Amino acid sequence: MLEQKKRAFWDERAAGDNPGSNDFTLKRLEMKLILERIPKSSRILEVGSGAGEALVALAKEKNCTGVGIDFSEAMVRRARVYAKKNRCDKKVRFEVGKTPDLPSHLGTFDFVLTERCLVNLNSRDAQKKAFIELMSHLKSGGQYLMIEDFQDGLDNTNAFRKMLKLYRIDPPWHNIFLTQKQIDSWESSSHILKVRLLVLFIREGTWYRECGNCFQSLLEPCAKRMRMLA
Ligand SMILES: C[S@@+](CC[C@H](N)C(=O)[O-])C[C@H]1O[C@@H](n2cnc3c(N)ncnc32)[C@H](O)[C@@H]1O
Repeated sequence: MLEQKKRAFWDERAAGDNPGSNDFTLKRLEMKLILERIPKSSRILEVGSGAGEALVALAKEKNCTGVGIDFSEAMVRRARVYAKKNRCDKKVRFEVGKTPDLPSHLGTFDFVLTERCLVNLNSRDAQKKAFIELMSHLKSGGQYLMIEDFQDGLDNTNAFRKMLKLYRIDPPWHNIFLTQKQIDSWESSSHILKVRLLVLFIREGTWYRECGNCFQSLLEPCAKRMRMLA
């Protein structure tokens, strides 16, 4: 029921501008980081690939190949059109599927990528199951580039906002933000130590206009000063 509601939400977003996030500033930063981190000619599995921007940019600019999986059929249709328009449809393909329980034929990759996908799952157990599944699609020595929202960061933001007498921000109805503690417990699972996990904390609930540009690196020195002054 909840999954259907979430799928309908993403199907609807697939028809609009900025389908993956209203925060286009953040999206630009994420894309820059993805293009910097993923080496030329890598083979990539992206889960929650949305409208396909990341994989298409990687195919065009870094000669990468790969597969994008998304549980929204409308997003997959949009990503296919986008890949074709950019003449990348021979390098990247998009399929309907969901994590956990990805299609069984996918195989292994140099990189697995999620960009605000795990936060959409319905429970912390489902997030862990998806994480283990994603890791199983890495070649030996492969890397998982995880770009997700973290509750820790949102808590920091809210502490800062409180000092400024701004209202508190909570994650939207369709998200469970990850926590640092949760990730630490996943990383300590023995089968995960064999591969490198590259965790990038996108620390704020960035679609809220008010904190669109308040990234942690800018925020923390400021917050420290405020605490010292308080
Ligand atoms: C926040 S959007 C991000 C899309 C894209 N990565 C981007 O940054 O533009 C999350 C995407 O994950 C997809 N999604 C949510 N839950 C999923 C699941 N369990 N399995 C696969 N895709 C999922 C949604 O349909 C949506 O396209």
